[in-house]
Amino acid sequence: MGRPGFTVRNFMSALFFKRFLQKPFQIASIIPSSKALVERVASKIDFSQPRTIAEFGPGEGVHSRELAARMDADSQLFLFELDPAFSRDLERQFADDPRVHVINRDAASLSEELALRGIAQCDYILSGIPFSILEIERKRNLLRETHDALAPGGAFIIYQVTNELRQHAIDFAPESESEYFLQNIPPMFITVFRKGGQLDGNGATDPADSQFSSNYAR
Ligand SMILES: C[S@@+](CC[C@H](N)C(=O)[O-])C[C@H]1O[C@@H](n2cnc3c(N)ncnc32)[C@H](O)[C@@H]1O
Repeated sequence: MGRPGFTVRNFMSALFFKRFLQKPFQIASIIPSSKALVERVASKIDFSQPRTIAEFGPGEGVHSRELAARMDADSQLFLFELDPAFSRDLERQFADDPRVHVINRDAASLSEELALRGIAQCDYILSGIPFSILEIERKRNLLRETHDALAPGGAFIIYQVTNELRQHAIDFAPESESEYFLQNIPPMFITVFRKGGQLDGNGATDPADSQFSSNYAR
C-alpha cells in the first residue's frame, strides 16, 4: 500500500528535483511543466492524422504522456533525453507502447537516429531543452538540424523562460507564433516556428520536395 498522499506525480517531481541537483544546467528547472502548460503546448499540434513527432528533453515525460494519449495508433514519438535516469524511467513508462521510442542521446543526433529507422522527416518537433544556455554555435547547429528534419509545413514548438531563440531561428518561416503563458512555474513563452510548405501527414514527404533549404552557412 502506498504512503497516504503519495502520488505518481509526487514521485515524478522527486526524480526531477534529484536530477536537477545532480545536473542543474542540463535539467534547468526544479519541477516538471504544469498540466496547463502541457495541454496548451499539445493544443498546437494537429492530431487528426498519423504524426511523426520528436521531443527534445522530455525529462520525466510530462509532455510525452500527453502526446502519446492524443496520438493515433499509426503515429510515432521519438524521445531524445540526455539524462540516463530519466531515459530509463521513460523506457519503463512506455514499455508497452510500440509507438514511443526512447533515445538516450543528445537532441543533435536527431537526423542520424531518424535515418537509422528509415524515417524521412518529422511533422512536429517539441523542445523543452534549455536552449538559452547553449553556446551560440551549438544552438544554431541544433536549430539547423531541427529545421532540416521537419517536413514542409511542420512545426518546431518550444516552451522557454525567454524568447531569445526567435532571433536565431532564421531558417523558419518569418512569422512565428508566440504567447507568454502564466500558468506554469516559472511562466514560459510558448513559441511555434513553422517550416514553409504544406503538412501532408506522417513526415512521409520527400525532403527533396522542400523548397526551403537552410539559410545558415555550412
Ligand atoms: C527543463 S527540463 C524539461 C523537462 C520536461 N520537458 C518538462 O517540461 O517538464 C530539460 C530536459 O532537457 C534535457 N536535455 C538538456 N539538454 C539536452 C539535449 N541536448 N538533448 C536531449 N535532452 C537534453 C535535460 O536532461 C532535461 O531532462
